[in-house]
Amino acid sequence: MADTAVAAKPIPRARIQAMKEYHPPLGSRDALRLDFNENTLACSPKVREALGRISAGALTRYPEREPVEAIVAAHLVLAAAQVALTNGVDEAIHVLFETFLEEGDELLLPVPTYTMYEVYASATDARVVAVQAADDLRFPFERLLDAITPRTKIIAIANPNSPSGSVASQGQLIEIAKRAPQAVVLVDEAYFHFHGETVIDLIGEVPNLIVARTFSKAYGLAGLRLGLLAGPVELMRWVRRVLSPYSVNSLALACLPPALEDTAYLDWYVNEVLAARLEFEAALDAARLRRWPSRANFILVDIGPQHAQFVRLMRAADVLVRDRSSDSGCDGRVRITIGTREQMRQAILALNQAVAELNLGGRAQ
Ligand SMILES: Cc1ncc(COP(=O)(O)O)c(C=O)c1O
Repeated sequence: MADTAVAAKPIPRARIQAMKEYHPPLGSRDALRLDFNENTLACSPKVREALGRISAGALTRYPEREPVEAIVAAHLVLAAAQVALTNGVDEAIHVLFETFLEEGDELLLPVPTYTMYEVYASATDARVVAVQAADDLRFPFERLLDAITPRTKIIAIANPNSPSGSVASQGQLIEIAKRAPQAVVLVDEAYFHFHGETVIDLIGEVPNLIVARTFSKAYGLAGLRLGLLAGPVELMRWVRRVLSPYSVNSLALACLPPALEDTAYLDWYVNEVLAARLEFEAALDAARLRRWPSRANFILVDIGPQHAQFVRLMRAADVLVRDRSSDSGCDGRVRITIGTREQMRQAILALNQAVAELNLGGRAQ
């Protein structure tokens, strides 16, 4: 009895034991943050005011998400039953995968793409089927269609995609949904505001389409953890069974309506980033570095074999950028978030210095 008590220990599921650990490089980020595609400045001052108005008494209550879901749904011209708020899009992905993926199912992913799809899929019994983009990193539409099988259960498409910044057209997304009626087509519009095109207006019309949106990027609320899923009522009903009723906390819920209302702030920030992206593209071209066309608030740049030294030199100049070398098909590539024009001028100085020091010019040839 005593022996078995000593030998016995809790063992996680085999799937969990096989999972890779994922540690985003979040340490020591007191610098210009061009590494996580966040808003690099601040959220709306209206959100800040709403936070200041929260009473100690209000925090004693469990958060009530439904009234805020109704506000968000109205903002998106959807019905409340079509929208579920989540603790960031990461929770949305996790819950969606838990809801739909089982043994024998396939998750279809164009790659390279957002890391967490694979992380959450690896906790399920489904198989990931990765469809590699060509060297131009454009959305691999035809190859994705060819990879659909009767076992395809979810197709996850970040649009715009990270780290490439490439996009799929509305027509392509509709065709994919049509060709895989047995699958949920998740269109992750985390970077929607910088692109301006959406398929959210097709919710309900395309029976297997679910759209994700985040408040972590343009809205500048990554620390609050706010995201959403929008989809047909029937599918959302299943999602809600898995979703915790309290995963979106009351601070986040209080901040959401003012964030949505302050469209002037959002427009200002997005326009600032788009102007800065143009300037930064010109600087990359002048430095003769290869870059991929981006419709988001970041640009993927080919640095080549010295990618790690480049990231270190940028950090030494107080500019954080993200090495994406370990992403599929991205060896030697670094992703740089776009902030304001003033911030990007600082980044350009650091970039030019690193390019000179490492003798990188001419990789675009
Ligand atoms: C495509 C994509 N989806 C989702 C997320 C995460 O969003 P959230 O902060 O809402 O979890 C990111 C963050 O980098 C992303 O790039």
